[in-house]
Amino acid sequence: KATQALPSAPTMDATPKQSLQLVSQNLVTDNVSVVEGDMAIISCRVKNNDDSVIQLLNPNRQTIYFRDMRPLKDARFQLVNFSDNELRVSLSNVSLSDEGRYVCQLYTDPPQEAYADITVLIPPGNPIIEARDEVLSEGNETEMTCTAMSSKPAATIKWMKGDKELPGKPKVELTYDKMYTVTSRLTFTVSKEDDGVPVVCIVDHPAVKDFQAQKYLEVQYKPEVKIVVEFPQGLTREGENLELTCQAKGKPQPQRVNWVKVDDDVPSHAVITGSDLYIENLNKSYNGTYRCVASNSVGESYDDYILYVYDSRAGEGAPRTVDHAVIGGVVAVVVFAMLCLLIILGRYFARHKGTYFTHEAKGADDAADADTAIINAEGGHTNSDEKKEYYI
Ligand SMILES: *[C@@H]1O[C@H](CO)[C@@H](O)[C@H](O)[C@H]1NC(C)=O
Ligand SMILES: *[C@@H]1O[C@H](CO)[C@@H](O)[C@H](O)[C@H]1NC(C)=O
Ligand SMILES: *[C@@H]1O[C@H](CO)[C@@H](O)[C@H](O)[C@H]1NC(C)=O
Ligand SMILES: *[C@@H]1O[C@H](CO)[C@@H](O)[C@H](O)[C@H]1NC(C)=O
Ligand SMILES: *[C@@H]1O[C@H](CO)[C@@H](O)[C@H](O)[C@H]1NC(C)=O
Ligand SMILES: *[C@@H]1O[C@H](CO)[C@@H](O)[C@H](O)[C@H]1NC(C)=O
Repeated sequence: KATQALPSAPTMDATPKQSLQLVSQNLVTDNVSVVEGDMAIISCRVKNNDDSVIQLLNPNRQTIYFRDMRPLKDARFQLVNFSDNELRVSLSNVSLSDEGRYVCQLYTDPPQEAYADITVLIPPGNPIIEARDEVLSEGNETEMTCTAMSSKPAATIKWMKGDKELPGKPKVELTYDKMYTVTSRLTFTVSKEDDGVPVVCIVDHPAVKDFQAQKYLEVQYKPEVKIVVEFPQGLTREGENLELTCQAKGKPQPQRVNWVKVDDDVPSHAVITGSDLYIENLNKSYNGTYRCVASNSVGESYDDYILYVYDSRAGEGAPRTVDHAVIGGVVAVVVFAMLCLLIILGRYFARHKGTYFTHEAKGADDAADADTAIINAEGGHTNSDEKKEYYI
């Protein structure tokens, strides 16, 4: 057993931790992490040398070095430095069985010890990405796994899609030989933008650097359709010719596009060549929605063009289009002017505050015709049916 009672510290009531600190004041060493097959360096250092004998013990408490002599037959241990203040030993071709607590010991009274824990790191095997689907379709969910085999300690796995990190679900298995195999599962919904983007599985482990595997996504998506007016550039007038082109891009690329007219037939003399629709001598009866449809294995999409045939004279001369902003501005100015007027009037009447009489044509309401209305109204004048209005 590597454990042994700590040498008692000078102070009686010292806790083990304190005594460790006190011990470490004069004899110091460091823990060592080393990758399997590499070389480990164990350094026992003495701060205030009093010519005490120093030795290094292995986890089984066998003496590796006694001063600068090596009683142990294992030639992988070599003396690097032996001085008044340091015993420095190298251990080459470290294997897992070398792990444990090494002891630096100083033959003082009482003897002092310091512990160097050697931890052997075993790098994982090359990460392996496996994809459930080779070819993906936009909108579908997909799953990928990345495995880092047999490492010590367990590796951690990080996923990147393009330059975005995605969360994976890790699973750690302890294998029979006390190694860890980590598998991370990544699921995500595929978008069109993912096409050609690399998914990278990054393995983080103290024994390796830049350990990763990647896979490029191949995503199929339904066509994107766009109608472009080749001719005319301006208004579509009677008698003119119309030429539309349909642009469709998808993966896989749609073989052909289809021109239809919504709720109607395409004019009989329209010419469709490939993705072009050509109509000569426009006529108002051709008004309507022209649709270009493209489809592939993923789905179908379309774009619409609304044809509105104007009179052959329409749009001639100066365009009659008045900017809405100008109309708005004029309205605003008029409203503002009227408000000002109202305020001025209000102030004027306020200064001449008083009672005003208005004479209303009261009798006009129940008159049978216009003439009697006027007569009644005149009569109403003498009726002294007055109303008071106050201006404040
Ligand atoms: C060395 O490692 C052990 C655990 O293995 C730890 O308890 C101890 O504090 C470490 N010592 C130093 C100096 O880091
Ligand atoms: C040994 O260590 C001492 C003190 O750190 C240093 O002066 C000396 O050069 C070292 N010797 C070798 C061979 O490394
Ligand atoms: C290292 O050690 C392993 C066994 O632990 C042995 O098979 C191998 O030959 C050694 N390599 C060297 C270079 O000594
Ligand atoms: C995508 O998902 C749909 C519906 O969930 C399914 O019918 C289709 O086969 C999937 N496509 C691929 C390539 O897996
Ligand atoms: C427009 O088309 C309709 C029917 O297709 C036809 O009767 C009419 O004469 C055409 N008008 C012009 C100006 O070509
Ligand atoms: C086509 O649109 C024009 C507007 O320029 C309109 O005058 C005409 O009545 C429409 N014709 C049909 C058949 O909708």
